[in-house]
This record gives sequence, structure tokens and C-alpha cells, in this order.
Amino acid sequence: MQRISLVKTAHNLIREKLHPGDIAIDATVGNGHDTAFLVEQVWPAGKVYGFDIQQAAIDSTRAKVKSCHRISEKGDGYTPILTLIQASHAVMTEKVAIQDHGKIAAIMFNLGYLPGSDKSVITQTESTLTALAIASRLLSSNGILTVLAYPGHQGGGHESIAVKNWCKQLDEDQFSVRIYYSTENEVSAPRLYVVDKLTKLQQHEPSNPDAEVPNLQISVSSS
Ligand SMILES: C[S@@+](CC[C@H](N)C(=O)[O-])C[C@H]1O[C@@H](n2cnc3c(N)ncnc32)[C@H](O)[C@@H]1O
Repeated sequence: MQRISLVKTAHNLIREKLHPGDIAIDATVGNGHDTAFLVEQVWPAGKVYGFDIQQAAIDSTRAKVKSCHRISEKGDGYTPILTLIQASHAVMTEKVAIQDHGKIAAIMFNLGYLPGSDKSVITQTESTLTALAIASRLLSSNGILTVLAYPGHQGGGHESIAVKNWCKQLDEDQFSVRIYYSTENEVSAPRLYVVDKLTKLQQHEPSNPDAEVPNLQISVSSS
């Protein structure tokens, strides 16, 4: 069975939209792989906010970003670019500078637990949905939001369905949604929800009349 890396898919899609000088958010920094990727994209003049509720994740991410070759060359030069915040993504509105609201080019969520750590500390459906609602408002026009969900762990199935339902209720004049699956026909397969905030011009293009669920395209892709 073909498996695709949804992390790579998310990075490839974000790479198309996130450029040097832009602002991004990693809503779940974990071990810092996604944060390091985002810092790399916005370098040398942009900004990345990183959230996690666990001190271990914040420490691990700081170390990961510091060890990133391009960044360490500049000594402590990564500091102004990266703001790590030990708090729930549900309070993003207060923690992201007001002047950056509506200007975030990319926001990543990687749900579940911190690999190699306590598996009982996981993202919770309620705070995830609160954070997604905030994220959709913080995004810039033409911005991208990715949510990697894992229905295979306890609570993950419920959370993944809730994310899908949240995607479905988005205003289709403002957002378009795609879902990528890591494998075909597997209920527990990890999946990537990709939400694009449409530009004014895109908002006036006709939508796909063949889509089963309006505005929700489902793919198994090897990008
Ligand atoms: C799958 S890991 C993230 C992996 C990470 N993106 C990486 O590249 O290594 C999920 C993370 O979400 C964090 N988390 C759980 N609930 C959270 C919340 N309410 N706000 C922010 N982070 C949360 C966990 O502590 C964990 O580190």
C-alpha cells in the first residue's frame, strides 16, 4: 500500500505561499520540525510564532531551530524571527501582536501528542476548534492553514471528525478546503486538512459544480 508523507505534503503546499519576510504560526511546535521549516521559509526578515502547552516541546523546538545550519551561522540571529509561547493555541488572539492579525501567511497544526513524550498530553477537540476559528481570522488573504490529524489514537477520531465538520461550515466564498489521506480506504489513516483563504479575485470565480460536498475536495496525492 502506498503511503505518503503528509508532513511533506503540508510543507510543499506551504512553500508555495510562504516567502521571506512573511509571518507564520506553528500552533503545535512539538519537537520543532515544522517550526524550523517555517523559520527557514520566512528567513531573514519574517516572523514565526510557535505555541505549545509543554515546556519540553518549547525547549526541544528552541534547540532544533538553533541547530538549523542557516540560522546558527548567524549566531543568535534567529531570536527576532521566532517567538515561542508556552500556552494553548486557544489563546492565540492575545499572544499574536495585533498588527499581525489578518496578516499571517501560513498556520500549521499537527494534532495529537508529542512524539517520545507523555502520550496522555494530547490536543483536545474543544481547544482545537477554538484555535481553528481564531486561525481562520488571523490568516491573510491567500493564506494557508494546514491541520494534520491522527484518528488512530484515543480521542483522535472524534477530533478529526470535528475538524472536518469545522472545515465544511466555512464560508465557501472565503475559503476552499482539501483533504489528503496518507493511505486509501483506512478509517484510522492520518489525514491533512488544507484550508486556503481566497483572494478577492478568487472569491468571484465559479466553484466546482461536481464536488460531492461543496467546497471540499478529497485527494490521495503523492505530492
Ligand atoms: C504531534 S505534536 C506536534 C509535532 C510538531 N509539529 C513537530 O514538528 O515536531 C503535538 C503537540 O501539540 C501540543 N499541544 C497539545 N495541546 C495543545 C494546545 N492546546 N495548544 C498548543 N499545543 C498543544 C502537544 O504538547 C504536542 O507537543
